[in-house]
Amino acid sequence: MRKISVTTKFGQYTVSVGSGILDSLSTRIPALAGNPCKLVFVLTSPEIWALWGERVLASLAPREPVVLFLPPGERHKRMSQVERLTTEMTKAGADRSSLLIAFGGGVTGDVGGFGSAIYMRGIDYVQVPTTLLSQVDSSVGGKTGVNLQTGKNLVGCFYPPQAVVADISLLSTLPQRELRAGIYESIKAGLIRDAALFRYIENQREAIDRGDSAPLEKMVASSIQIKTEIVCQDEREMGVRMLLNFGHTLGHAIEAASGYRALLHGEAIAWGMIAALEISLQRKMVTETEARRIETLIRYFQPPPLPAVSSKRLIHAAAGDKKNRAGVRRFVLLQGLGNAVVVENVTDAEVLAGIAYIRQLSESNK
Ligand SMILES: NC(=O)c1ccc[n+]([C@@H]2O[C@H](COP(=O)([O-])OP(=O)(O)OC[C@H]3O[C@@H](n4cnc5c(N)ncnc54)[C@H](O)[C@@H]3O)[C@@H](O)[C@H]2O)c1
Ligand SMILES: [Zn+2]
Repeated sequence: MRKISVTTKFGQYTVSVGSGILDSLSTRIPALAGNPCKLVFVLTSPEIWALWGERVLASLAPREPVVLFLPPGERHKRMSQVERLTTEMTKAGADRSSLLIAFGGGVTGDVGGFGSAIYMRGIDYVQVPTTLLSQVDSSVGGKTGVNLQTGKNLVGCFYPPQAVVADISLLSTLPQRELRAGIYESIKAGLIRDAALFRYIENQREAIDRGDSAPLEKMVASSIQIKTEIVCQDEREMGVRMLLNFGHTLGHAIEAASGYRALLHGEAIAWGMIAALEISLQRKMVTETEARRIETLIRYFQPPPLPAVSSKRLIHAAAGDKKNRAGVRRFVLLQGLGNAVVVENVTDAEVLAGIAYIRQLSESNK
């Protein structure tokens, strides 16, 4: 079991990472210590609850939480769900001292975090991420929010949890595709900040892909460490936090241009990282050997083929990425393995060359 302490301007919280720690959930939640009467809500989705609900109930006993359900899927990450859930909370007697536990993937975490942030102007909440992506990425950093018809994550706020409990054993029921989608985000963490993590994933790739607990635990803890270090330096996303977007400018464009249906987020990021790597290589910011080595590791986890969208649409979608400021296209490139930098003068021609490169790789995979 590993513990990572995160300091934000709201205070401090602990991220626990380990196998089987779900069983000691209540001891890991500061708000529950010595407070047997606290009203506890668990937000989850029916499929996850069917798999793991009994374990959660046992770990919270004798407290009996009120369980709230969010239907699975990105399309339910909406204001309407937040309104419905918070109304249910009121009916169940929630007040400002109530606690919400978000038990699920990133969708549950984002909705649960946002609902907690605005319910009576803010109640405590805890993240118990159940997908690899939510363990390595969305449960830490304090970003919460929902989608609008007009775009993803357009409404939300920064609101850190009181604790994060990442139990690796929860990943045992995760479909392989979802597991791999999270692995790409961990590779990203290594690439931008920690060459040792990259090497670790490279050496342990078979065991990680099989879902073995020990290497997953190490990978998750290191990825969280990197994310929290970056977020602590830049809680509101003005500078260094941009680096976490390596692979995301084109990754988001691939997702948006294909209507968020063709690829999982992590898979789109896998292709976006290879394209950004190619641009870095053409600029001689990484060596040919480094580029091939990185590409080989990403492709080991077999990202599915790119959806059929035109390069023009991708360029257009990339220009609309909300990380761009005042018309400047900001791109995160690698300056060697383990070191990312933000570059503002990447041209359309370079992006097009990056897209052509991943397209050709994807074709050769078929
Ligand atoms: N807040 C942030 O900083 C941040 C960062 C990255 C991503 N996100 C958000 O996270 C969301 C994606 O998260 P996600 O990839 O976890 O997707 P998700 O929450 O949709 O979960 C993916 C699927 O896995 C299922 N599932 C979850 N846990 C399971 C388990 N243990 N066993 C079996 N099935 C399980 C879910 O029911 C769902 O069908 C997106 O909405 C994205 O915007 C937020
Ligand atoms: Zn991402």
